[in-house]
Amino acid sequence: DEVATLRAEWLAWYDFGHRAMPWRNEASANERAALSRADRAQWAYRVWVSEVMLQQTQVDRVIPYFVAWMERFPTIKALADATIDDVRSAWTGLGYYRRAAFLLEGARQIAAAGDGLPPETAAGWAGVKGVGPYTAGAIASIVYNEVTPLVDGNVIRVLARLRAVGANPKAPSSMKLWWRLAAVLVDTARPGDFNQAMMELGATLCTKAAPRCTECPLNKHCRAYRQALSAARPIEGGD
Ligand code: ADE
Repeated sequence: DEVATLRAEWLAWYDFGHRAMPWRNEASANERAALSRADRAQWAYRVWVSEVMLQQTQVDRVIPYFVAWMERFPTIKALADATIDDVRSAWTGLGYYRRAAFLLEGARQIAAAGDGLPPETAAGWAGVKGVGPYTAGAIASIVYNEVTPLVDGNVIRVLARLRAVGANPKAPSSMKLWWRLAAVLVDTARPGDFNQAMMELGATLCTKAAPRCTECPLNKHCRAYRQALSAARPIEGGD
């Protein structure tokens, strides 16, 4: 059916062309599935930090901060033992400094609870200080292969075009719609790669100002493209 083809084509595009990023785990699916609990915790920590950094900052700018952060705070425990001043200085230049304070609080919460290892589900992660539904969905799908959607600004733009949705993307009332659309699409075998493929398309081809529709692997599925509406979706009212 259409959704199955769309998923397969989106993943094939991602497999062929995705950008290297230091928090991505390029091991095979079998190797990833065989990670120990401690190794999964370490990968989850990397994805968590990267996703929080990426919330307001582009990938190229995030990478050096991410590498330096991991040298300075190599584990959740190391972060939990840091001071707010350490964390503030590692974050300087990234902006929206509250995000760093939340990472510290979250690390302390995880380190203090039970075995000191992080949750392994989206619902569990959503209970960590400062972790919202987007970050919880990213960690759970990427690291734990949980079939869970995620929605951020890039994803909203992609979905609004793909389905020619006329809702105001910024209206709180439309958030349910984006999450429902993302939940219908997410690939059930490779949810983490699928979610990253959606974000990657939004960051590279399906950009806000100048979408490159003729190069898009999904243009034959895209209602906005077929109706010559790409520039008009999402409607104005926000990004
Ligand atoms: N933007 C935010 N998170 C991302 C990810 N995991 N891959 C690509 N772009 C992203």
